Amino acid sequence: MSDLPASAELIRRFPGDFTWGVATSAYQIEGAAHEGGRADSIWDEFCRRSGTILDASSGDVACDHYHRYEQDLDLLRTLNVDAYRFSISWPRVQPDGSGAWNETGFDFYDRLLDAMHRRGIAAHATLYHWDLPLSLQSTGGWHARETCARFADYAAEVARRFGDRLASVATINEPWVVAILGHESGRFAPGLRDRKLAMQVSHHLLLGHGLALRALRAERPRLPAGIVLNLSPIHPATDSADDLAKARIDDGLLTRWYLDPLLFGRYPADVLDHLGADAPLASPEDLRLIAQPLDFIGVNYYTRGVAATVPPAPVPDRNVTEMGWEVFPAGLTELLLRLRADYPLPPVYVMENGAAYRDVLVGDRVEDAARVAYLAAHVRALADAIDGGVDVRGYFIWSLLDNFEWADGYTKRFGLVYVDYPTQRRILKDSALWYRQFLAARARSGQARAS
Ligand code: FCB
Repeated sequence: MSDLPASAELIRRFPGDFTWGVATSAYQIEGAAHEGGRADSIWDEFCRRSGTILDASSGDVACDHYHRYEQDLDLLRTLNVDAYRFSISWPRVQPDGSGAWNETGFDFYDRLLDAMHRRGIAAHATLYHWDLPLSLQSTGGWHARETCARFADYAAEVARRFGDRLASVATINEPWVVAILGHESGRFAPGLRDRKLAMQVSHHLLLGHGLALRALRAERPRLPAGIVLNLSPIHPATDSADDLAKARIDDGLLTRWYLDPLLFGRYPADVLDHLGADAPLASPEDLRLIAQPLDFIGVNYYTRGVAATVPPAPVPDRNVTEMGWEVFPAGLTELLLRLRADYPLPPVYVMENGAAYRDVLVGDRVEDAARVAYLAAHVRALADAIDGGVDVRGYFIWSLLDNFEWADGYTKRFGLVYVDYPTQRRILKDSALWYRQFLAARARSGQARAS
């Protein structure tokens, strides 16, 4: 574990009111999938299909957080964090995705928010972390324009009920993943494979974001609202013209496709050309809605991308996580500096950063030195971006708990806290102890906690 002086020195590079937190999402931790009036989401249905989830599991029980949230928030408190990023399960609070609200579902989030408040932890909510009510899928899901209006209704209701207790609200988590992994490659729910449809979905996610933003502001004009994108710098594997062109278009599809409409009100011309007949239908009025001012942009960063038109030779001893993702902290600095250079960038929160490793519980200890190294290196990279002038306001580690890692089921552990699934016992990993000590160094270096 890193020593205290190093922690104190690193944390001093951040502003005193910087927000430090951890992140989770509803379907990945809550469980209680068939309790309290919750209806199926597209992920419940997807998990029931054979061959979709690596260990044939589902989020039915997950971390049983629905019943254990008090204990989980106690853990969070012991980490010395300021803030918790969580998501609200749409099918728990509005089972059909339209019409009646489910009071039992809202009661859960009401208790959760109270429990955070009692512990002095700021609440950063995400409205859509991939669990679309299944009944909306039967009417076309995100391919149907109507879903955008339903999403805005849900956003307004959450703002009405909880807006005064939220530090921020994010509309959509990672629209690229929803559109491409959900609708082009089919690796994620709803498991469709159609590029044209996927690109229309990407537009509807952005439009849904815009309509939700308008609805949120009508209810709660002062509630900070934004969107969360998964972004990475894309490097060409070689300096061949083909690799350079591929890097440019991959970057276009991952980053510019979302940030250009959000911040400039238009889709990038080269990507529209590249898509040809697969480009979505999008009116100028849609783009005006999408480009409303944002209070923040959430950035999820895990690794860089490499664009190769010829499969590259395997690199021996490449530093990769259990996901096979390259450990590349300098990419975070590069990404943030580039966003600042290319866009009129609102304040940024790193809403997810973290790593899966093959953790082993020995007695009561999980020695995850690789995760500690990963996190410390990325925090350093973030400090470099701040030194370079990027207005970064917060950093959230993915994740508080080991949890249901989508198509990888329970085979990948991202938590600071180890979850022994058969018993639901929670054990702080060394990385949790590192984060706790790192954040405790604030008090000693004269930085106050926000709460
Ligand atoms: C992100 C997701 C999050 C988690 C991490 C590992 O893409 O937002 O739910 O699965 O990856």
